[in-house]
Amino acid sequence: MKFKLFSLSGSLPYSTEVASKCKTPLGKMKTHVFSDGELNVVFDESIRGDIVVLVGQVQLPYHHLFEMFVAIDAARRASAKEIICVLPYLPHSRQERKDDTRSAISSRLIADFIEHAGADRVITLDMHSTAIMGFYKIPIDHLSMHNNYIEHIKKHFDLKNLCLCSPDFGGLKRIKAYKSALNCDMAVIHKERLSPNQINSMEIIGDVKGKDVVIVDDMIDTGGTICKASELLKQQGAKTVNAYCTHGVLSGDALKNISTSAIDLLYISDTISHQNLPDKIKVVSSVELISKAIQLIIEGKSLQELF
Ligand code: R5P
Repeated sequence: MKFKLFSLSGSLPYSTEVASKCKTPLGKMKTHVFSDGELNVVFDESIRGDIVVLVGQVQLPYHHLFEMFVAIDAARRASAKEIICVLPYLPHSRQERKDDTRSAISSRLIADFIEHAGADRVITLDMHSTAIMGFYKIPIDHLSMHNNYIEHIKKHFDLKNLCLCSPDFGGLKRIKAYKSALNCDMAVIHKERLSPNQINSMEIIGDVKGKDVVIVDDMIDTGGTICKASELLKQQGAKTVNAYCTHGVLSGDALKNISTSAIDLLYISDTISHQNLPDKIKVVSSVELISKAIQLIIEGKSLQELF
């Protein structure tokens, strides 16, 4: 079936790899930026009647997320038959509920923007909360780095000495899925926050003495959680501490914090693009997974084999 794949301006290397795996050329789409920052996206080829796949590694601030909204609108107005929006990292996933009396539910707002712009489907990875799917009326294909990371852990660790660790209770369901695939010990950290990105206290529940501890989380932002957790785990006798996080947000002083922390290695995926990462941070590719999902969707086949 005919489809055309286009890249947002900040995602060219990633989208080129996806296009090559999907055995399709990258379509011609340009983003012009006015001097005040206003964006204009133009398709340089006809997309009338086509299935259009828009690929964007987005991260905040909002330039690339807004570029995606504008690209969807441009595709809709150019008479695309169907618009599939690939956002490996979906920002605002941490705000899927009202934590304060007068706060917003901004992940709902992002869903509204994507839908109102005219997208027909969203493909994304490891959302902070799966409840976000309920904010969309269009289908969301929610993939996970789970299988890639499990294969990676099997190759790099002695499973007999492995202890998986969730850095908070919110990640317990995730860690249990890893545990059932790896059949090893697990621990959980009771984390209390002062405010977003600021941790008040942490307490480890479980025995990590002499263990190779692997922390699994959906994202690493400032690195506060992972750095504090790895320090505590080593204090409690962990032999090594490594972490697997899908989204390497890496804002603020994250790179410096991670480089000087007790963590041995941090594995992130490429849902967000980064250059010049320190030696302690390694990237596990999500390209194969995203490309396979696009192909199965285009062929109208089940995505079951990806879970
Ligand atoms: C929180 O519940 C998330 O799963 C992450 O643990 C958190 O967002 C990471 O943020 P930071 O790296 O700033 O501690």
